[in-house]
Amino acid sequence: MDIDTPVTAAILAAGLGTRMKSRRAKVLHEAGGKPLIAHVIGAVEPLAPAERIFVVVGHQAAAVQEAVGARGVEFVLQENPQGTGHALMVAREAMEKLSGLLLIVYGDCPLISPATLGRLVEQQRRSTAAGTLISATMDDPTGYGRVLRDADGNVLGIVEQKAATPEQLAVREVNMGIYCYRAELFWKYLSEIRPDNPAREYYLTDVVEVLRRAGHSIQAMTIPDAREALGINNRVELAEADRILRDRKTRQLMLDGVTIERPETVTIDPDVSIGIDTVVEPFAQLLGATTIGENCRIGACSIVRDSHLAEGAAVLPFSMVTNSRLERGAQAGPFARLRTENHLAEGARAGSFVELKKAQLGRKTKAPHLAYLGDCEIGAEVNVGAGTITCNYDGERKHVTRIADGVFVGSNSTLVAPLGIGAGAYVGAGSVITADVPPEALALGRARQVVKEGWAKKRREKTGAGS
Ligand code: UD1
Ligand code: CA
Repeated sequence: MDIDTPVTAAILAAGLGTRMKSRRAKVLHEAGGKPLIAHVIGAVEPLAPAERIFVVVGHQAAAVQEAVGARGVEFVLQENPQGTGHALMVAREAMEKLSGLLLIVYGDCPLISPATLGRLVEQQRRSTAAGTLISATMDDPTGYGRVLRDADGNVLGIVEQKAATPEQLAVREVNMGIYCYRAELFWKYLSEIRPDNPAREYYLTDVVEVLRRAGHSIQAMTIPDAREALGINNRVELAEADRILRDRKTRQLMLDGVTIERPETVTIDPDVSIGIDTVVEPFAQLLGATTIGENCRIGACSIVRDSHLAEGAAVLPFSMVTNSRLERGAQAGPFARLRTENHLAEGARAGSFVELKKAQLGRKTKAPHLAYLGDCEIGAEVNVGAGTITCNYDGERKHVTRIADGVFVGSNSTLVAPLGIGAGAYVGAGSVITADVPPEALALGRARQVVKEGWAKKRREKTGAGS
């Protein structure tokens, strides 16, 4: 076939996935930080234009469509799924008119790479066969369809586990559920498959034998790494796919110059980027749309989601950082919680047991320990003492605290918002501050200390204690 023969793709995602024992459709379950279906579509997209990609949906069709998102692909509804062959029968009306090559991929094989799919299409393009399927040799082929060949190695058909004879069960070459057919031949013979199996389903795999009986040949492209074709049927396989996908991501980052300690314990989502010489410690999780610059450190057991760290910033162990920005050299943790919309300017620090929400900390401002800072704009070089609390909520509304450059907030201060503290001012330790503090002032909001000389001694003499 011509080099420019168009490719049309069908992705099968209508099954419930009974073996998952879940209320959610199988392809919605996540591995490697994305739903299974998103991985498969991502692998198919480089090979076919969106308007030639058809996702067959059935169980929880609306939720599956939502998980696919706005990629411009087409959907076909298989209302009452009766097998992988039935899925194509339902899709026939929408797809048959599109000639060229037909690529079929099951939605439960998230590890398949675009490169392997590309090789499959190329091999079929150059071949005179009616179709090419991907096979792999597995140590334990249990559950998969087996590829049957004649003495000369020609593919005869595929037999499902349930229907296989003991001899056929011993075959270790399995069908991956990924095929590339000449579209017109496929559609011509699809209607000949029958649900004559114990499951009473229309097996797509039967098309192979139908075509062969009609005098056409089918080729198998065997891939060297069987793991790539792992089909997810239960949660043990889901965890295995997740492990492999996470491993791919950490390997790529390490090859790109990131140090990852004990990488098998680390979870990094697919869209996360990390600069060179950054160190990621054990059990760290970097999630969502997180970007991390060069020379940063992500402490052990920390979780960073949808956040940005500039060069040299650090999240020390056991911290949670969400939807926040740390500029150059800024630091959070250990044991810090940056809830959302926080901004730490260059060299700013939020230390142990500090919780921030919508907090801006200016350049070199420090809140080293035990504080809650919410809805506040803090200038540069401010020292926030241990135990400082911004009282941002009056029971009905949130209010803002503004602290100007160079302020010193003594330990255990309670700052009742709305409130402003002027540049260079001091707040005495233990104060409850309810009114604005002018620049360079000292504000004290606490009871004056009383000292009664000799009081303790007199008390002991009266009660006779200690004599
Ligand atoms: C299938 C193959 C088997 C192969 C294995 C590879 C058949 C009959 N068997 O078995 O040879 O080794 O995949 O992983 O094809 N689906 C629909 N509509 C349906 C039924 C299924 O869209 O009516 C979708 C499912 O959502 C799933 C995919 O097709 O994503 C595969 O279905 P599944 O039931 O998992 O097939 P297997 O039993 O794994
Ligand atoms: Ca499967």
